[in-house]
This record gives sequence, C-alpha cells and structure tokens, in this order.
Amino acid sequence: MKKLSILGSTGSIGTNTLDVVERFPDKFKITALAAGRKIELLAEQAKRHKVPLVSVAEEEDARKLSDILGPTVEVYYGMEGLKTVAAASGADMLVSALVGAVGLVPTLEALKKGMDVAVANKETLVVAGALVRKMADDNGCNLLPIDSEHSAIFQVLEGRDPGSVKRLILTASGGPFRGRSAAEVAEVTPAQALAHPNWSMGPKISIDSATMMNKGLEVIEAYWLFDLGPDKIDVAIHPQSIVHSMVEFVDGSMIAQLGVPDMRGPISYALAYPERLPMEALSLDIWSLGGLTFEKPDMETFPCLGLAYQALGSGGTAPAILSAANEIAVEKFLTSLITFADIPRLVDDALNKIETTPLTDLSTALEADTAARGFARDWPVTARNR
Ligand SMILES: NC(=O)c1ccc[n+]([C@@H]2O[C@H](COP(=O)([O-])OP(=O)(O)OC[C@H]3O[C@@H](n4cnc5c(N)ncnc54)[C@H](OP(=O)(O)O)[C@@H]3O)[C@@H](O)[C@H]2O)c1
Repeated sequence: MKKLSILGSTGSIGTNTLDVVERFPDKFKITALAAGRKIELLAEQAKRHKVPLVSVAEEEDARKLSDILGPTVEVYYGMEGLKTVAAASGADMLVSALVGAVGLVPTLEALKKGMDVAVANKETLVVAGALVRKMADDNGCNLLPIDSEHSAIFQVLEGRDPGSVKRLILTASGGPFRGRSAAEVAEVTPAQALAHPNWSMGPKISIDSATMMNKGLEVIEAYWLFDLGPDKIDVAIHPQSIVHSMVEFVDGSMIAQLGVPDMRGPISYALAYPERLPMEALSLDIWSLGGLTFEKPDMETFPCLGLAYQALGSGGTAPAILSAANEIAVEKFLTSLITFADIPRLVDDALNKIETTPLTDLSTALEADTAARGFARDWPVTARNR
C-alpha cells in the first residue's frame, strides 16, 4: 500500500490523481491533502478518503473546514500547512500539483524527508531546478514526472544508455491559436485563450499553452529531469496530442510514446512506478486516429518559447524571473489588465531589467521570484512597452 500526500488536490491534476487512487483502493491510501480556496471540495475529498490531515490557503477557511471535519482531522493553513502536508508522517510519496512557485518550498520539504515526488508542478523545477535535483539526489528520492511529455520521455529512456540519446523532442498541441499570425492573436480574450483544443486543465496552464510559455517551462523542466543541454531539447507542434514526446538516439532511431490525451495515464504511471496499472478507459483506438502531423513552432507569433530557451541559456535566477513574471502576467491577462501580446512583452522586460544572479540557495531563488513578481505587478502598459 503506497501512502500519498497531495498538494493541490482540488485542481485538475489533483482530482485526476484522486480518480486514479479510487480505482485502486488496495494500492494507494491518502495521508494528507492540501488545497487553496475550494474548501467544500476539499472537505468532501477528506471525508471520502478518511484523511487525518488537511491544509488550505487562508486561516479563516481553515476554521470553517475544521468546523466541517470535526476534531479528528488536523487542519492547517498557509505555507506551514503546505509544508506539513507535503512531508506528512507515514507518507511514501508526494504528488506535487500546486500551480506556480508556491509549490517549491513544500516540495523541497518532502525531498528532505526522503520521499519520492510525483511532479506536476513544473514551476518548482523551473524556479529552482538545481536545488530540487540536488535535494532529490542527496536523499535518494525519485522525481517522477506527471507532465505527459516528460512522462513519455521518462518511459522511453528507461533502461537505456544516456550516452546513446541524441535529442529529446517535446510535442506541443500548439494551443487554441495555432496557425494564427501575431496580429491575429494580439487582442484575443481570456475566454478564447482558455479554450484548449485537446486538454482540460487549470486556468494558468491553459493560458501558458496558448502563449506557448507552457512548452518553454517544459523545456526547462526537461533540462532538470533528464540532464541534457538546451541544444538537445527540441519542440514539435503535434496538434493531435497523441504522440506525447519522442527521443532520438545516436543511431537515428526515434522512439515515441503514444496515448490518449488524458492525464490519468501519466499520473497512474508516476503513482505506481515501476508497475503499470490496468487503465481500460485509456485504450487508444489507433484505427480512428487519421493522421499524426508535426510542424515547427512559430517563434514569432509565440515569443514565450524563445524567452524560456533564453532564460535557460542565461542560467542562475533567470528561469525563476521568467516564471514569476509570467505568473503575474497571466493573472493580469485573466483580469483584463493587459493584452495577450503583453504577456511576452512583460516577461521579456523582466528578464532584461532584473539582474540575474547565480542560484546558490533557496533564498536566492525566492528573492528572484519576489523581485520579478514586484516588477510584473508594477509593469506599466505604455506606448514604449508596445
Ligand atoms: N492540468 C493539467 O492537465 C496539467 C498537465 C501537466 C502539468 N500540469 C501542471 O500541474 C500543476 C497544476 O495544474 P492544474 O491544471 O491542476 O492547476 P489548477 O487546476 O489550477 O489547480 C491548482 C491547485 O493548487 C491549489 N492552489 C493554488 N494556489 C494555492 C495556494 N497558494 N495554497 C494552496 N493551494 C493552492 C488550488 O487550490 P484551490 O483550487 O482549492 O484554490 C488547486 O488545488 C501546474 O504546475 C501545471 O503546469 C497540469
């Protein structure tokens, strides 16, 4: 029986994780859950799984939740709550499924305790990949990718000689604006940008998919998970989202992983690793596929992908600045404070104007994050920026 703590249980990845867990009650047990503001859903999850430890974002919500769940359930809040849930005593694995850099500190907490981490929260690796990787290696912990692309590469690389790998090719659906020009996407609305053609996901990653920042963050995530330079990580647009990623080997062979676009596939693989769970609903009907196509990404219409490669090349705190500036830019776009085209402008400005320093420890990463958030919040939409 594997005991799991889940950060972000009320989100898209969190609810899919619980769906997988419920299909295999003899294999998994939930030890602790953390969420943000959806306390009714969290209460229902905690009752259903008889979870003794939960956490929410705000103190007031923690009080309400405590009233609902009664004295047998410990209820925490804020960052201390996230850390307590992440490293809950008795848990074997953390499912890291918060959105944004808020997941970094609690994820490190679980690794410090020697727990394996199933990583959905890619921003954690983008902001401080060097620290997360080192903490995992020093404590003998597995980092098991949940992102479908990284799960695909992880599955393809299993048992292979790392020296035989020529390059990784991350696939991307291209999002809702694939094939449009920069002028056409400049003024799209949040509702249009949220409408992903293939995947049902939380709002932040949906916007990141529309700008292609998601693929940029995934390039950085792949760098830390698979230890290959940026020149060995390519991106291909694959609108059908069936090939989840590919690896090219030195002999010219290319091995891909295919599956339906359903996050329960990579989640089940990470949770049960190295076992494979029977997931009948995820069988791929190859006869109905039609064609599988691949295109080069349009870096002009979607400059965020290039900005992510640039930040990875600069190293140090540059990816933390990129990620934090982007988080705020997405929030501002969703509340109509800036346009879609402003997102890469703001991130570019943050990368150019905030000094990049070496990433020596956690406080350097958090300082860069804070500086970039402040910069992005104050970022003026002026004629100069446009
Ligand atoms: N969704 C996908 O298909 C997918 C695929 C690959 C990778 N990912 C990655 O997985 C991560 C999660 O994505 P998602 O789509 O599941 O996001 P989501 O649906 O927005 O869920 C985010 C979760 O984090 C919680 N949360 C947010 N801020 C919090 C805070 N300050 N304190 C405590 N809890 C907080 C939310 O709680 P409340 O909702 O209760 O407020 C929710 O449970 C992201 O890093 C994303 O890039 C997602």
